[in-house]
Amino acid sequence: MKLDVEFCGVKFRNPLVLASGVLGVTGASLRNVVKNGAGGVTTKSIWRFGHTGHPSPVIIANEHYMLNAVGLPDAGIEKAYVEIGQYMKNKPAPLIANIVEAKISDFAEVAEKVAALKPDIIEVNISCPNVEDEFGKPFSCSRDDAAAVTAAVRKKTKIPIVIKLTPNVLNIVEIARAVVDAGADGICAINTVGPGMALDLETREPILANRVGGISGPAIKPISIKAVYDIHKALPKIPIIGTGGITTGEDAIEMTMAGATLIGVGTAVYYRGIECFGKISGEMAAWGKAHNVKSINDLRGVAHAGAYIKKIPNFN
Ligand code: DHB
Repeated sequence: MKLDVEFCGVKFRNPLVLASGVLGVTGASLRNVVKNGAGGVTTKSIWRFGHTGHPSPVIIANEHYMLNAVGLPDAGIEKAYVEIGQYMKNKPAPLIANIVEAKISDFAEVAEKVAALKPDIIEVNISCPNVEDEFGKPFSCSRDDAAAVTAAVRKKTKIPIVIKLTPNVLNIVEIARAVVDAGADGICAINTVGPGMALDLETREPILANRVGGISGPAIKPISIKAVYDIHKALPKIPIIGTGGITTGEDAIEMTMAGATLIGVGTAVYYRGIECFGKISGEMAAWGKAHNVKSINDLRGVAHAGAYIKKIPNFN
């Protein structure tokens, strides 16, 4: 099965992209992810100025989920110029630059500065779940705030813009519609779930220093699949980066059937190592071969059509 896809006019040799927040800090680590089979990479969220993260412990994980509250630490745009600049020289695969700010009015500036690096796509993080005491609720919990951030970024660049949405809303489709109406080219669904909390029975306190953290990993896959399914159904022409709990090739196929074009892979790096990209794409290709599918593009959104079921004899 052929795995190459096109997303917002950008060609990817396979749909697997490194999700933001994992290994996306230096040019060398981004290159290493591509070497291990990713079709593209997303940087960790970039701020205009340096940003101090949360104190440790910042991550815990078990076989079901990961909980993290790293606090979006970053060295700021000057450092991004150095690291992304290094990656962009003989770029091995498309680069998605992820940006974040605390105030709607600051997104225009970070977008303009990052656009100068000429990334293939700009992804806007308006959905970090553990920042509430620092700067209020995530913008992607509000249609108006999400649209305002999108419009501010849109004004500054013609580079394709993807808005990364939180699943922690009653109706993610409403938010997706609002950002598309405000000029977004694509949607990334979903950011982490929650926040959630885990307690240490000995200290009798929350394990994470921030007390709460975003939930990722296998446990959240049904939530990400539903979000992508719902968004694709409502907005079939809008390309989606489907992310959330994707760990195996079969997960990636499922996400494609729900409607995703690109597949974000983040926490799987913890479970399967950096080699997970090559492993997952190998598993996707093997599934395609076993099911006689020629291209991943033939599977996109098929969960909606009902056409496949109708072709199975005697299926009730
Ligand atoms: C953090 C940021 C996120 O966007 C997220 O989903 C979870 C955690 C963080 O840096 O704390």
